[in-house]
Amino acid sequence: MTLANIDFYRNIQIEKFRELAGVTGFDTGVDIDQIYPQLKDAKAIAELGVGYGRAIDELLKRGFEGKIYGIERVKSFVNYMEKEYNNENLFMLHQDIEELDLPKKVDAVLWLWSGILEQNLEKQRDSICKIRKYLKTGGKLFIEAPQDKIKFVGMKINKHYIRVEMDWGTLDAYMPYEEDMHLIKEYCHYKSLEIIKYQSTTGLDRVFYVFEN
Ligand SMILES: C[S@@+](CC[C@H](N)C(=O)[O-])C[C@H]1O[C@@H](n2cnc3c(N)ncnc32)[C@H](O)[C@@H]1O
Repeated sequence: MTLANIDFYRNIQIEKFRELAGVTGFDTGVDIDQIYPQLKDAKAIAELGVGYGRAIDELLKRGFEGKIYGIERVKSFVNYMEKEYNNENLFMLHQDIEELDLPKKVDAVLWLWSGILEQNLEKQRDSICKIRKYLKTGGKLFIEAPQDKIKFVGMKINKHYIRVEMDWGTLDAYMPYEEDMHLIKEYCHYKSLEIIKYQSTTGLDRVFYVFEN
């Protein structure tokens, strides 16, 4: 199964995107709350797949003052972010995560709201290895994903594949499990892997995989 998905995001209206954040329980930045203590003093971070800027907004609301590199492959979101956020610390990069090319090393990379699920397991592993090259020593990669229950917006095709069907398109996803992340940590030579379990505001069981370089 290929996980193309780009048309799902090309066709989504920002209002619908915001609604999804409400339904899934991310609109308050509950995910950012879990990790903000580890981020607040970062000089530079990168976010993979910015969308309409939900997470960046939550970071700025909490007083984040470091540089933010925002990676996004849908041009309309890049344009939207540049227009809405007139912030000298925000650098939007129109890139595909699979060809990630950051201008310098960062203290943290954020891959939030199931973004990693848009790659199959082999690509997830390759991306996690590649991201390490862009992390300073002691820098961290924060991957946010579902624990095991997919409620509200997706249906499970089998143990790993999830499909989200909306009026404007279909999104296919590959669900990694904790044991996969432990194997990837070893394979990519990260120093440690921390697991943070929490719930979204609508009761979804979520997890952060925090890889330290
Ligand atoms: C679920 S949304 C998450 C948006 C944002 N990170 C948040 O937490 O609110 C995933 C975003 O990643 C982008 N995306 C998906 N695959 C990508 C890729 N390979 N390269 C760059 N961006 C990608 C999508 O266009 C979409 O905006």
